[in-house]
Amino acid sequence: MCGIIAYTGKQLAMPILLDGLRRLEYRGYDSTGISILSRKRIKTLKAAGKLNVLESKINNPVSGHCGIGHTRWATHGAPTDENAHPHTDPTYRFAVVHNGIIENVDTLKARLGKDTKFTSDTDSEVIAHMLAQQTGELIDAVRQVLAQIVGTYGIAVIDQQNPSTIVVARNGSPVILGIGNDEMLAASDMSALSRYTDQVVHLDDGEIAQLTPDGFQVMHMDSSVSHKEAITLNDQNAHYDRGAHPHYLYKEIVEQPDIVVQTLSGRLDDRFSTARLGGLNLEARDLIGIKRITILGCGSALYAGMAGASMIESLARIPVAAEPAAEFRYRNPVIEQDTLYIVVSQSGETFDTLAALREVRRKGGFVLGIVNSVGSTIAREVDGGIYMHAGPEVSVASTKAYTSMLVAFALLALLLGRSRDVSPQRGSAIIKELKQLPENIRAVLALEPAIAKLSEQYNKSQSAFFIGRTNGFPIALEGAQKLKEISYIHAEAYPASELKHGPLALVTGETPCFVVLPNDDLLPKSISSMEEIKARGGPVIALTSATQQASSRIDTLADAVIRVPETGSLTLPAVMGVALQLLAYHSAVSLGRDVDQPRNLAKSVTVE
Ligand code: G6P
Repeated sequence: MCGIIAYTGKQLAMPILLDGLRRLEYRGYDSTGISILSRKRIKTLKAAGKLNVLESKINNPVSGHCGIGHTRWATHGAPTDENAHPHTDPTYRFAVVHNGIIENVDTLKARLGKDTKFTSDTDSEVIAHMLAQQTGELIDAVRQVLAQIVGTYGIAVIDQQNPSTIVVARNGSPVILGIGNDEMLAASDMSALSRYTDQVVHLDDGEIAQLTPDGFQVMHMDSSVSHKEAITLNDQNAHYDRGAHPHYLYKEIVEQPDIVVQTLSGRLDDRFSTARLGGLNLEARDLIGIKRITILGCGSALYAGMAGASMIESLARIPVAAEPAAEFRYRNPVIEQDTLYIVVSQSGETFDTLAALREVRRKGGFVLGIVNSVGSTIAREVDGGIYMHAGPEVSVASTKAYTSMLVAFALLALLLGRSRDVSPQRGSAIIKELKQLPENIRAVLALEPAIAKLSEQYNKSQSAFFIGRTNGFPIALEGAQKLKEISYIHAEAYPASELKHGPLALVTGETPCFVVLPNDDLLPKSISSMEEIKARGGPVIALTSATQQASSRIDTLADAVIRVPETGSLTLPAVMGVALQLLAYHSAVSLGRDVDQPRNLAKSVTVE
């Protein structure tokens, strides 16, 4: 949520800041801005809208080798030029970019006095005004201001009187330092740094750092030095190259067979017919001691968690519940020693997921993470976990990361199942099913022309339903999520059994109902739900893994059928998920939506 970039070094800052903002744009894209120390003055350029609006306003490049930039997702104040960051004090000595929320902004404004003129509606501007009232070194001035702030922040500050110094600080919003040759960078996400360096340092909450071209120093808020180790990034740049694909989302959909291979790589143990997950930090004895599992996440990560819950429960016969991380942490949850907690997050920075993790650990619970972003806050704070190895996901709506989460859950289910009652034979069959998944996804990708046609048929609809039972329900949830996120068609998911308890009142000839029909014991019951919709004149689109021979009734009843390969229940959510991703993608494209950056959303939600 909001992106920060900062640069000091020998190169011109402006192109690096703009390039960084381009990479960070997925974190928020309602306004952008940069401030650069140029000829002893701070020059600030900012504009409402996406980065290309700012770029179009730049007639002459700003010279200067030290600067900060920001891409915003509005919390306080509408997306306008004035509310865009950076914010400056009245004398233009300081410029500041801020991610997060200042909760005591009214108190701080009152402290500044009635005569202080604010030029924006943001909470962030108060920081620049407060800095102007401090004395001493820049880092001390920033520290004194931050000591008065209640809330969350990731900030970067430049000072006209310290021409090549940047001060950054973190409390709740990520800040990562990038170490270059005679240059230093900072950003809220590694994506903005990877083109310039592979050496990065993650700040922890309560840390403040001073960057100059020749290095950095990290301190705690009480001025004591914090000794940080740099970590080396793998090359991530290929993920930011869209190639010939029209959208990142499309690229990320079609690369899923390879992503599955990456997530599985080195983790299938054919000899013992189980999964090898060294990062869990759990011994065999710990695994059999688990009495219950709670899975926590937000958005698509939550839906992957719900599918994961079914996988684990059915294979390992451990009771598993998945719930929204934010709701969990606010209901004062009971934390049990024999419960395993699993947080799921692509970015590893989602505020609510992180807060839930901290709540569980604070109460002594053991937490595993299923995380994509290496070195992210969640990845660093969990007791153990599974890295997804899906590579950076650029498009705001999750596709390949969602699929990779499902694969990680399948591996965990296999491991837990094999540590209990799952036989070696069944274990081998599951391994075979997992190895077959890339091929099955390819088969679904081959359905693209038919799915594209279908999406054109229904893209005028105001509303759509997605229904499924038990294992099919999380699939329906993610299908509805994808469609609403990127096409803006109102889509709701319901357990098929719930349809008659309310939603059926909304079913008309204009309300397409996507029915998820796994070829399982509940198939006849799901077909009954189709009948109920048809009886009310609702168009039915069946998404099924049942062959025509297994159930001819589906084809008779449905207005259209998307038939995916028959596969086991562990990989079915991934296989069906890809079909629903294609449906959402083509609906969005045919409606002319901004596929990669849908309105009002952001990829990494680092505010509450
Ligand atoms: C945002 C994104 C969703 C994502 C969710 C959780 O809302 O728009 O696509 O599923 O955050 O993100 P995470 O990084 O924790 O998986």
